[in-house]
Amino acid sequence: MKRKTIIGAVVALGVVGIGFAFWMMWRPEIAAVSPPQSAGKETLDRGRRIVEAGDCAVCHTRPGGDYMAGGLPLITPFGTLFTTNITPDPETGIGKWSLPAFERAMREGIARDGHFLYPAFPYVHYRKLSGADIADAYAFLMSVDPVKYTAPENHMVFPMNFRALVSFWNLLFLHGDPLEPIPDRSAQWNRGRYLVEGAGHCSSCHSPLNLIGGEKSSELFNGGVVDGWTAPSLRGMADAQHPWNEAQLVAYLTGKVAEDHGAAAGPMLPVSLSIAQLPVEDAQAIARYILDLKKTSSDATSPPCPPAANPTAKTLPGAALFEGACASCHSSAAPMRTLDSRPALVNTSAVRADSPRNLIQTILQGIPMSTAAASHYMPAFADSLDDIHLAAIAEYLRNESCPTRPWTDLDKTIKSIRTQE
Ligand code: HEC
Ligand code: HEC
Ligand code: HEC
Repeated sequence: MKRKTIIGAVVALGVVGIGFAFWMMWRPEIAAVSPPQSAGKETLDRGRRIVEAGDCAVCHTRPGGDYMAGGLPLITPFGTLFTTNITPDPETGIGKWSLPAFERAMREGIARDGHFLYPAFPYVHYRKLSGADIADAYAFLMSVDPVKYTAPENHMVFPMNFRALVSFWNLLFLHGDPLEPIPDRSAQWNRGRYLVEGAGHCSSCHSPLNLIGGEKSSELFNGGVVDGWTAPSLRGMADAQHPWNEAQLVAYLTGKVAEDHGAAAGPMLPVSLSIAQLPVEDAQAIARYILDLKKTSSDATSPPCPPAANPTAKTLPGAALFEGACASCHSSAAPMRTLDSRPALVNTSAVRADSPRNLIQTILQGIPMSTAAASHYMPAFADSLDDIHLAAIAEYLRNESCPTRPWTDLDKTIKSIRTQE
């Protein structure tokens, strides 16, 4: 090769390299617009449905704050991040965003001015939505009351405070196109898949995450940990030892008490209250899709819990504590149990799970009062039960439900949850 050609090739490579580096770190701004005219009622209704299916308000409305005005802190392993104001206020919200700017944020995680958004905003899932659904969601958000509010500054740890690093994360985890229906599956199954994998972003909590916070693609839906709660595996629910059917799952997913299983608590409660706002066909489609998720080889199967032939639990110290603190609502004689066909606690996932985490969390936090599920209120016991009493009640319930596999990490789990509070 001639010298000139070599120099030419090196220069060309350099230009491509610098171009690539720029592309990795920076995206152009999309011009500001004035908030668009209000859309028609049908568009707004469709948009509201996407926004409910996507739980936007669960993250973008802080407790006591205005609808969609942001400010909820999200605690991640990389620091604390605050959700932003997505009302149409032009200065502090997204009032100057055009539809293309909004669509780019939803599909690529880039803000209107070109900065990278952190993937705590689940754009890896929203990118699977159809263009029509994104446009409807945009029209709906542009119709909510504009609110002047700016969220507090984020506290991300070094080096995660450099947003441009997100572009490397995106190279690894951001792919896939809007979901197309799979032709040989039913319309209901396809709708369920679209809601679960797209707007519902269920796998973001129900999958194990790798060290840099990406979902492990080989273990999707195998269960994860979120805010100190276990989000159980969603695989094999139809043939679990204590199986779920469609009606039970629909009840659970819409914020009601599922016969023989119980009701959602913790981070799942707001998700279920959002799904409750959707037409019931959507909840049924989600249930159908979930019931079709089979166990995979990487999804550890726990040995079954045979019921005690000869329960000794009544003599455990926790039995008396349970009588005092819980039985008025949870014993088989409690009047509350006959309402709603509520489950015996021994049948609930919280008591049957391999980890005591969700039982401890439920007892400590209770189940807050919510309008959609007013009869589900359970008081929080964080201040009235000490660690020893808490462990004793958990040991008693576990012994009733799975005497052959007692929890061995009760004290440790209680300590770690208490110190997170
Ligand atoms: C799990 C929590 C979560 C959910 C659910 C969520 N978001 Fe967000 N969203 C965030 C966070 C956190 C940010 C800020 C990210 C950052 O600053 O890097 C954000 C940022 C955004 C932004 C960029 C706004 C700006 O000013 O830069 C838009 C637009 C947005 N979200 C829209 C939505 C929509 C629409 C939905 C529902 C379909 C939704 N979000 C659901 C957490 C969430
Ligand atoms: C913000 C995190 C989060 C998101 C998003 C989420 N879940 Fe959950 N889910 C949880 C947690 C935590 C629990 C355990 C709640 C409890 O024990 O009360 C749970 C429990 C469940 C259960 C009960 C499982 C069992 O064995 O008891 C089902 C079913 C479920 N989720 C389905 C879904 C579906 C479907 C979606 C998407 C539409 C979804 N979840 C989205 C966190 C989440
Ligand atoms: C004032 C009534 C009340 C009291 C007292 C109460 N609970 Fe509850 N609890 C509820 C209601 C309502 C629910 C939600 C409906 C359901 O799942 O049965 C619930 C749910 C639960 C669940 C979650 C079941 C699931 O769906 O995963 C557990 C575990 C639980 N309670 C344990 C306890 C324990 C242990 C105590 C005593 C320390 C206690 N509760 C005291 C009313 C109560």
